[in-house]
Amino acid sequence: MGILDQFDLSGQCAIITGAGTGLGREMALHLAEAGCDIVGVGRRPEPIEDVGEEIRAKGRRYLGISGCDVTNSTAVNEMVAKATSEMGRVTVLINNAGLGGTGRGKTLPELTDEDWRSGIESNLDTAFYCSRAIVPHLLEQGGGTIINITSGWGYRGGRNNWMYPVAKGGVIQLTKAIAMTYARDNIRAACIAPGLFPKTDDETILTGLGEKQPAGRIGFLREIGPLAVFLASPAASYLSGETVLIDGGAIAAGITPAGLVPRAEG
Ligand SMILES: NC(=O)c1ccc[n+]([C@@H]2O[C@H](COP(=O)([O-])OP(=O)(O)OC[C@H]3O[C@@H](n4cnc5c(N)ncnc54)[C@H](OP(=O)(O)O)[C@@H]3O)[C@@H](O)[C@H]2O)c1
Repeated sequence: MGILDQFDLSGQCAIITGAGTGLGREMALHLAEAGCDIVGVGRRPEPIEDVGEEIRAKGRRYLGISGCDVTNSTAVNEMVAKATSEMGRVTVLINNAGLGGTGRGKTLPELTDEDWRSGIESNLDTAFYCSRAIVPHLLEQGGGTIINITSGWGYRGGRNNWMYPVAKGGVIQLTKAIAMTYARDNIRAACIAPGLFPKTDDETILTGLGEKQPAGRIGFLREIGPLAVFLASPAASYLSGETVLIDGGAIAAGITPAGLVPRAEG
């Protein structure tokens, strides 16, 4: 097999949560480009249908499952059952859906039980539910890959920023637990820790944020795709349990992605 053949995802099928927008959409399009069929999952129908059109135009099979809230374990189990029965074989799960900002800025005594619960469930329960649901299928199929999306916040604390960093740190540990547990079952788990990838076309924001970055710029959404393809591919066959930072050196520089002193708004 030639080196580039090792990145070929032909014959594979990936479930991607939050596939309709942002980083999830980019990963879906890049995986499809590399030959992978896609199951796109989210709550709103429109983004899930729109990305599906682009994926089908690349000649791949696509199943869109909208109306699926991955904080609900029943909905997750139904989604995985539908994906596996309609696509036949799923080999990759990308736990991408997540929600920043819940309860951010509150002091510890101000946080409600609901703030805590919703922040953790949006960013950690989601990955747990989807991973738990897909593992029996992966075992049956003889293996597969689970890719979790954490954040630079999974590595550091932020002043009055609670659930998101805690949950994203948990995602890194969930990745290690899956990798360790299923290492002899040909199931790999890997984690991507993105730095700052804004979904805005506002040039003032982009330029301002970029100026404070070690690389002098923020990340472009499209830059996440090749990393996801690599991690899902046979080229990464011995890579498991690891978290790969993709942040232009921000964590290496010991600062937040925006280059700000860690405060609630940073
Ligand atoms: N962009 C960044 O700078 C950055 C940096 C570090 C980490 N991340 C992480 O990367 C991931 C993607 O973020 P993004 O920036 O691309 O954000 P985004 O565009 O808001 O993407 C989140 C996607 O997930 C879906 N989603 C959210 N909660 C869901 C739920 N409960 N059930 C089903 N689908 C759900 C959303 O669609 P619906 O609302 O229609 O369901 C949306 O398509 C997140 O885990 C985030 O924490 C992002």
